[in-house]
Amino acid sequence: MDKSLVVSEIAELRSQIATWRKEGQRIAFVPTMGYLHEGHLSLMRQARTLCDRLVVSIFVNPTQFGPNEDLSQYPRDFDGDLAKIRSVGGDLVFFPSNEAIYPPGAQTFVEVTELTQVLCGVSRPVHFRGVTTVVSKLFLIVQPDVAIFGEKDFQQLVTIQRMTKDLHFPIEVLGGSIVRESDGLAMSSRNAYLDPDLRMAARCLSRALREVRARFEAGERDAKVLRDTAYEIVSSTSGAEVDYVDLREPSTLQIVEGEAKETDRLFLAAYLGRARLIDNAPLGGACGL
Ligand code: PAJ
Repeated sequence: MDKSLVVSEIAELRSQIATWRKEGQRIAFVPTMGYLHEGHLSLMRQARTLCDRLVVSIFVNPTQFGPNEDLSQYPRDFDGDLAKIRSVGGDLVFFPSNEAIYPPGAQTFVEVTELTQVLCGVSRPVHFRGVTTVVSKLFLIVQPDVAIFGEKDFQQLVTIQRMTKDLHFPIEVLGGSIVRESDGLAMSSRNAYLDPDLRMAARCLSRALREVRARFEAGERDAKVLRDTAYEIVSSTSGAEVDYVDLREPSTLQIVEGEAKETDRLFLAAYLGRARLIDNAPLGGACGL
């Protein structure tokens, strides 16, 4: 496998970026934890249209996993990932060691206090602190002009947009649409954990989103009715255990009560065996569902 794209040392990455900057090139950045699928690649293709150079990071960030989560089993396929990044025109893959990102004795964290208290923040209390910390480090190392994050992890996207504004990072943070399997399941590295029965059961998430969007389209505006429709579909699916089903406003993530608008978003999380899967969609407008 040709590893010529790969840089693991921060100093080497900085010197490459400095060369590109001197040439006036615009740099886009897509951070990932690897085991890449079409969802990741769509962000890279989007990034490619916005810049002269595309930097992708692969780093399974230990601080965003809780003590009982899947850090040690997180799937990996480094050679496959490199081939995929090459196929979408990536120029550099940043693949740092844990020690490079977290120097021995590290004790500095970045925290977004409110947006992270709801949804995934409830069952994953240390998760977003780990995400905002590593993304800050990556932003400071790579110093891109633009960075792209998937709407699949919508709470992550708005949290990083908030952090970028609050810390004055001179970086444009854009969202990319959710890429789905042909039956509607949102692509995720964690889908690899599903056996065939759970893979079938996992369809309940996109089915719930579709059903709620259909009810909204048909004129239903009551936030509780819309939310309960989704809850009923997921909770009645054998093999699926609901973590949350919430209808929220997309920028503040406040719960919607009373009359719902088309930009309000339905957020779902459920356990299917040991896989915890998430999905979301706006009530109206195009969204690929
Ligand atoms: P990871 O789960 O590898 O995802 C990397 C990026 O791909 C994220 O922005 C995520 O939202 C996006 N993504 C995943 N599945 C997608 C899909 N089906 N459609 C569109 N985009 C999708 O998210 C992380 O890594 C980490 O938290 C990270 C930001 C890298 C920090 O460690």
